[in-house]
Amino acid sequence: MEGIKIEKIFLLFQIFCIISNRGGNSYAVIESVNESRKFPDKFLFGTSTSAYQIEGGWNEDGKGLSIWDTFTHEHPEKIADRSNADVGPDSYHRFDDDLKIIKELGSDFYRFSISWPRVMPTGDISSLNKAGLKYYDDVINKLLENNIEPMVTMFHYDLPQKLTDIGGFTNPLFLKYFENYAELLYIHFGDRVKYWITFNEPFDYCHPGYGEATYPPLIESDGIANYLCLDHTIKAHAMAYRLYRMKYYEKYGKIGKVGITISSRFYFSKSNDESIVDRGMQFMLGWLAHPIYSKAGGYPEVLIEEIGRNSLGEGRAWSRLPTMSEDWKNLIRGSADFLGLNYYTSRYIEYVESPKGKSPSLERDARINATVDPQWKRAKSTWLYSVPRGLTGLLGFIKDQYSNVEVMITENGFSDDGQLNDDDRIQYIKDHLNAILDAIDQGCNVTAYTVWSLIDNFEWVYGYTERFGLYYVNMSSPNKERIAKKSAKFYTDVIKSHSVSSNL
Ligand code: BGC
Repeated sequence: MEGIKIEKIFLLFQIFCIISNRGGNSYAVIESVNESRKFPDKFLFGTSTSAYQIEGGWNEDGKGLSIWDTFTHEHPEKIADRSNADVGPDSYHRFDDDLKIIKELGSDFYRFSISWPRVMPTGDISSLNKAGLKYYDDVINKLLENNIEPMVTMFHYDLPQKLTDIGGFTNPLFLKYFENYAELLYIHFGDRVKYWITFNEPFDYCHPGYGEATYPPLIESDGIANYLCLDHTIKAHAMAYRLYRMKYYEKYGKIGKVGITISSRFYFSKSNDESIVDRGMQFMLGWLAHPIYSKAGGYPEVLIEEIGRNSLGEGRAWSRLPTMSEDWKNLIRGSADFLGLNYYTSRYIEYVESPKGKSPSLERDARINATVDPQWKRAKSTWLYSVPRGLTGLLGFIKDQYSNVEVMITENGFSDDGQLNDDDRIQYIKDHLNAILDAIDQGCNVTAYTVWSLIDNFEWVYGYTERFGLYYVNMSSPNKERIAKKSAKFYTDVIKSHSVSSNL
C-alpha cells in the first residue's frame, strides 16, 4: 500500500512538472502519465477472428452452406469489391500459420468462432459432420498445448442456410436448434474450453438481416422481424446458458464461463439534456443487456412504452416488441457469467420530435438523431471514429446499471487499407487501452481486452477493402503469408509489459 502511495505522489509531481513546463501541452501530460500505468496482473490480452471471415474451405469435408456463402455467391454486387470468403485467409488449411503469430504476440487467449454449418451442415444434429468437429478439436488442442486459452464464439453471423430456409431467427424452433447446437459444443469441447460466447453482436445481424435487408437473409421488416430476431436470440442465449449450468458446469470442474457479446456505442448528449443519453443507451446496449444483466430483468421500460404506443398508433393489435413472460424474464435474468463487449465508436445524440424514418422502424421508435464530432479521427470504415472516452463512459454505464458485472472486451479495432506502417491503428489501440485503465481506476470490473483482428479478413459487405488485422494478408498470394504490421510489434510489447508504455 505504501509503495502505491509513493508512486502516486511521484506521479502527481511528474504531472506538476509537465504542466509547469511552458513548452508542454496537455497531450504531452497524458502521454507521460500513461507511461507508468499498468494493467492488473490477472488482466488478459487476446485477439479475435470469426469463422466465415477467415476460414475459407467453404464446401470442404462435408461443410454445409451458410447464409453468407449463399449471399456472396448470389449477390456479388452487394459486396464492395464483389469478393467472397470462399478462400479468404484460408485458416481452414493454415491454422498453424495463425498459431505461430498468436504465439508471437504472446496472447493469453484467442477468440474464434465455430462455423455451425461446418459441424452441423443442415443446422440439425442429424447432419453431424465429424470432419468439422476434428478441425476445431485440432485448433483447441494446439492452442492449449501452447498455453493459449481458447475463447469460443458459437455464432458469428454464419447461420446454416437450411435453418434460414425455415425462417432462421424468426422461427420459434430456432431456440431448440440453437440449444441443441450448443449442447454438441459443450459435449465435444467442454472439457477444454473455459470461455463460451453464445452470440456475437445480435444487433449487427438482426437489424441488417431482418430489418434493413442489407445482410442475409435480406428480410425487409424493420420494427418487426428484427425485434423478433433479437427476442429469439436472447431466449436462445438463456437456454444455452442454463443448459451449461445444469449439465456441464460441475462436470467440467466449475471453471467454465458462458456469456454473450454485445456491441455498443456510447452516446453523449448533444444538448444539455442528459436524459437522452439513457434513452439512447437503452435502445442499444440495454435492449439486450437489460433482460440479462439488470436486477429487474425484462426489456427496458422505455422500449416497452415507446414501441407499445407506436404499435397501437399504427392500428396494431399488439406491440411489435415481443412480450416477455415472467417465466422467460426469470430464465433470462442472470443468464451470463460475464458481458462480452465489442466497442468501436461513439456518437452525439439528440431527441427527434418527428422522426423521418419509415413506419414502422427502429429509427421511428428510438427517436434519436446521431452525429459525430468532426475532430474525431475516422478509420477507413465510414462508421468508425476513434472516441476512446466513449469506452470509459460505456464501461461506467455498465458498472452502474448492471451491478458491476465482469466485462471482457471481446473486440476493439481500427480499419485502414492494410498498410504495414499502421500508426493510426497503434494510436487507436493505445488510446482505448488508456480509456480502459481510466475505467478500471473508477472501479469498473474489466478483465480482458481483445483486438479485432488477428489477421486481415473478409469485412462482410466491404469485402477486402477495409483491413483490421495486426497482420497483413495478401488474399491473392498462393501462400497467404501473415505479415506483421507495426501494430503487431506494439501489441506484443503491451502484452509483455502489461502496460501501454511502449513509445512505438
Ligand atoms: C464484428 C466483426 C467485424 C468488425 C469490424 C464487429 O462488429 O463482430 O465481424 O469484422 O466488427 O466491422
